[in-house]
Amino acid sequence: MSKLTMTRRAFVAAGSLLLAGCGAKEEPAQTQPAEEAAAEQKPAEDAPAAEATSTGSAKDKRILVAFYSRADENYPGEWLEVGHTKVMAGYIAEALGADTYEIVPVEPYPEGYDDCCDQALEEQRNDARPAIAEALPDVSAYDVVFIGCPIWWGDEPMIVRTFLDGVDLSGKTIVPFTTHGGSGLGNVPANLQAAISGAQFLDGLAVTGTSVDDFHDEVVNWATGLMSA
Ligand SMILES: Cc1cc2nc3c(=O)[nH]c(=O)nc-3n(C[C@H](O)[C@H](O)[C@H](O)COP(=O)(O)O)c2cc1C
Repeated sequence: MSKLTMTRRAFVAAGSLLLAGCGAKEEPAQTQPAEEAAAEQKPAEDAPAAEATSTGSAKDKRILVAFYSRADENYPGEWLEVGHTKVMAGYIAEALGADTYEIVPVEPYPEGYDDCCDQALEEQRNDARPAIAEALPDVSAYDVVFIGCPIWWGDEPMIVRTFLDGVDLSGKTIVPFTTHGGSGLGNVPANLQAAISGAQFLDGLAVTGTSVDDFHDEVVNWATGLMSA
């Protein structure tokens, strides 16, 4: 089913099953230290403590976790105070002692699910580049950049492309991660590879957004495993 023919209702009907598709650059931003970022995440009270929290090799790398995430009505009738991808980003940053950079739009996306779906699709059709509110990070300070986002209509939200257009990630190691309703990583790995030249790409991880609290250990073990390889 193409994006043009698939309606937002298809996302809703699919529920937790497979979902086939739903700034100005000034001074570099201060990225957020790992401890502060972790404190802002929704606590994963149900998740047992991770076996691995960091590795010697990870400590030798300078790691940034850059992400976009949206709270508000994430599914019809399901309102989030903290977006799923932000929770996942917090797991990664805390495990690796990484800095974080949250991609924040100048114009917030609509709070309602249906309106957000409409806008997201419109932005894809127009190849839009929504403006980012915060200054972009100085990525020259990092060896590894994790890039995370929700899947929107099979792809990354277009504001992630604004981020990619604004930073020079050549020479970096790039690691994609997503939260989703059934599409997994979607087209994100391929899109990142198309957008970033001269970088090394590692395998990404996708987590079902509504179950992100249950995936703490898997996320931590994946991230630490990648950084110790
Ligand atoms: C505008 C919009 C489009 C979406 N499109 C898809 C999709 O194509 N495939 C999918 O699996 N989930 C889709 N979803 C569900 C989100 O990917 C999922 O809820 C994700 O965990 C949200 O992450 P966040 O809370 O960090 O924004 C969509 C959600 C929205 C709001």
